[in-house]
Amino acid sequence: MSEEELPVPAPGQVLVEMRAIGVNPIDYKLYSGALGANESRLPLHLGAEGSGVVLEVGANAAGPAGPISVGDEVIAYPGEGAYTRRLVLPADYVFPRPKALSWEQSAGLMLAGTTAAEAMVVTGVVDGETLLIHGAAGGVGSLAVQLAVAKGVTVIGTAAESNHEFLRGLGAIPVVYGDGLESRVRALAPNGVAAAFDTVGTDEAVDVSLAVVADRKRIVTIVAFGRAQRDGFVAIGAGNPDTPRIRKAARLGLVEAAGAGKLDVVVAKTFPLEEAARAHAELQRPHPRGKFILIP
Ligand SMILES: NC(=O)c1ccc[n+]([C@@H]2O[C@H](COP(=O)([O-])OP(=O)(O)OC[C@H]3O[C@@H](n4cnc5c(N)ncnc54)[C@H](OP(=O)(O)O)[C@@H]3O)[C@@H](O)[C@H]2O)c1
Repeated sequence: MSEEELPVPAPGQVLVEMRAIGVNPIDYKLYSGALGANESRLPLHLGAEGSGVVLEVGANAAGPAGPISVGDEVIAYPGEGAYTRRLVLPADYVFPRPKALSWEQSAGLMLAGTTAAEAMVVTGVVDGETLLIHGAAGGVGSLAVQLAVAKGVTVIGTAAESNHEFLRGLGAIPVVYGDGLESRVRALAPNGVAAAFDTVGTDEAVDVSLAVVADRKRIVTIVAFGRAQRDGFVAIGAGNPDTPRIRKAARLGLVEAAGAGKLDVVVAKTFPLEEAARAHAELQRPHPRGKFILIP
C-alpha cells in the first residue's frame, strides 16, 4: 500500500502499523466449523490482537490509559481484523505497549490474559486456596497460573511431563493428565481444591473438576460448553453475559502488570503473516509451548 492509500482514522479512531499479530485458536475455529454455522459472522476478519506503532490519530481519540500520539508503541486489541499490516480501530482498544515485553509477547497478551483474568474473578480464588488448572502450560493456562500465584493461591496445573519444569518455574505444582488424575490431584491437595479452571475441555478435565471441587459455581471452563450446561458449572466467553464487562475491566491491569515485569508471555514460534494458514495448521496439532505470532 502506498502512503497516499493509508486508511484515515475517523474521530475516536487510531491507525496502527502492526509489528506483530497474536494467533489464537478462535482464529481457526471461526472457519473450521467448530463453532457451528453462523452467517452473522461473515465476512470473517481474522485476528483478535497485535502490537504496533501509531501512524495517525483521529480527532478526540484517547485510549483507556490516556492520550495517544503518533509514534506511540501500542497493543491493539480490536477483537477482529488484526491480520493486517495497517489497522484502523477505536482508541478504546489501544493500550501502551509494556516495554518489559517484546513486540511478539505484547501481541499475545490480551486475549489469553483477559480470559485468564475472568477465570480469576469467576472462580473467586483468594490467598491460601488451591486452584486446579487444566492445560496450565497453554497460552491461557500459563497466564492464569501467574495471576493466581500472584494472589497467593496454590496452583495445581495439568500438563505434559515436558512442561513440568516450566510450570514449577511459574510457581505451580505440575501434574500429568491421563488415567488416575483425580487421585494424583487429591494427593497433592490434602486440604482440598477450592476451584477449577478448565482450558482443555476433555471429559477427564471436567469429570476430575466435578469430583474434587464442591461448589460448581467455582468450576469454570472456556471449552466444554455442552458439559457446563448439562452439569451446572460455569462457561465463560461467547454467550456469557458477564464476560464482556469483566474482560474489559481487566485489560489495563494486565498491561500494567506486564509493564512492571509481573506477567510473562511465552512465545513459541513466529510466522510471516502470509503463512497464517501454516500457523493455524500447526496450532491444531500438538505444538511447542507458547503463543504463535504472525509478523506482517
Ligand atoms: N471461551 C473463551 O473465551 C476462550 C478464550 C481463549 C481460549 N479459548 C479456548 O481455550 C483453549 C485453549 O486455548 P490456548 O490458547 O490456551 O491453547 P494452547 O496454548 O494451545 O494450550 C492448550 C494446552 O492444552 C494442553 N493439553 C492438550 N491436550 C490435553 C489433555 N488431553 N489434557 C490436558 N491438557 C491438554 C496442552 O498442554 P501440554 O502441551 O502440556 O499437553 C496445551 O498447553 C482453546 O480451545 C481455545 O479456543 C476459549
